[in-house]
Amino acid sequence: MAKKPTKLLYTCQTCGFQTPKWMGKCPDCGEWDTLLEEVRSAAVLRRATTGSTVGASQPVPINAVDLAEAPRLATHINEFDRVLGGGLVQGSLVLIGGDPGIGKSTLMLQALNAIATAGRKVLYVSGEESVKQLRLRSQRVAASSGNLLVVSEIDLDAILAMVTKSAPDVLVIDSIQTMFSAELTSAPGSVGQVRESTMRLMLMAKNSGVPTFLVGHVTKEGVIAGPRLLEHMVDTVLYFEGDRNHVFRILRAVKNRFGSTNEIGVFEMKSQGLAEVTNPSAIFLSERPENVAGSVVTACMEGTRPILVELQALATSTNLGTPRRTVLGLDQNRVALLVAVMEKKLGLHLTGHDIFMNVAGGVKIIEPAADLAVMGAIASSFLDKPIAAGTIAIGEVGLTGEVRAVGNMEVRLAEAAKMGFTRCLAPAINIQRLTEKQQLAVIPVGTVAEAMEQLY
Ligand code: TYD
Ligand code: MG
Repeated sequence: MAKKPTKLLYTCQTCGFQTPKWMGKCPDCGEWDTLLEEVRSAAVLRRATTGSTVGASQPVPINAVDLAEAPRLATHINEFDRVLGGGLVQGSLVLIGGDPGIGKSTLMLQALNAIATAGRKVLYVSGEESVKQLRLRSQRVAASSGNLLVVSEIDLDAILAMVTKSAPDVLVIDSIQTMFSAELTSAPGSVGQVRESTMRLMLMAKNSGVPTFLVGHVTKEGVIAGPRLLEHMVDTVLYFEGDRNHVFRILRAVKNRFGSTNEIGVFEMKSQGLAEVTNPSAIFLSERPENVAGSVVTACMEGTRPILVELQALATSTNLGTPRRTVLGLDQNRVALLVAVMEKKLGLHLTGHDIFMNVAGGVKIIEPAADLAVMGAIASSFLDKPIAAGTIAIGEVGLTGEVRAVGNMEVRLAEAAKMGFTRCLAPAINIQRLTEKQQLAVIPVGTVAEAMEQLY
């Protein structure tokens, strides 16, 4: 009997779960009506079951591994290079995720143009825009290098043939959700297509050494396969985030096989494209109101860089039985914990108050070093007393009301002094360890009560 050439598989469009039998509810993620039929051709099945198509590799002693790898390829956009860990590694696959309209295509075009201007041949494949639209965008951002090749294509086989033929130094696929592999019958954007396309691009990148960027959209509904599914397949995952109502964009590494994941790059969206922001503190503090209750500045570390941000709080009396705690840009649980400490240790009656908190400029803070500033802002709004101009607060707060030490104190203080702050509340333990003389007055605080006394 002849072997069946194809096999039917049902794939969940939300999580990628596969089963040979159709089901109404995905047993893996619990979503209803998400299983779609996908026909896999014999070739794909063979590849999936026998491993890869790459030539057989041999194990080697670790001390015999040749380290003379090609140097990293700079994108010539400093903020971008730093997030990548010092430039692009040969053969790496980099996923750039982000909400639609945040500026991914603009960033890619500008980075490719910079690489092209430095004399490299680069290829930009767009599945979303025509070459005319790309040209219009390139005029807007003044990207007009003759080494920048553009093409509008969604057929993966055609793209791979193009890469083999034109041998670019860098490749961009915008976006992975629009790519289509003829081996699968499902529509572009389905989990199967996205996974298949990524796998083939990964093999291409590893075999040819061409660094490849994949642009991916994140959708909340999960109907279209989000790039989250791909995060384990690629070498580096970068998220381009920011509030579309703000001009600031933050490029953040959430996974990087070739560098640190703490680094961020800050950009500003202008009418002629993205501009690097080399001094983020100045930008994030630019609209800060002086002498207004509810605003405190703190210094956070983003990778190796200190950034000054303004925390804002609004405490208003409420009739609700359970007062609201609405928090943007900070951890909600952390704020709730700090409010509890304030009630117990400072005797502030916040139970009758709704509390709203925001980090100005659309930044997200995950560091506990902002604790003291969070408390300062809430207390300032609650008491309706502004804190003295030129004051900044740094420190982690424990459950017993103690102010705990934070790392990188010298760097944070230097940044604060650079931005014109004259007074800093800092953990007493940190101050004892400081060796050099500081350019601003450092006030040691051991408990939150001491800190509040100093602030008000
Ligand atoms: P885009 O790069 O198309 O976003 P994505 O690829 O992530 O969907 O950016 C689109 C937005 O950026 C759009 O709202 C217009 C704005 N924009 C500028 O403000 N200035 C510019 O120079 C460009 C090219 C776009
Ligand atoms: Mg785009």
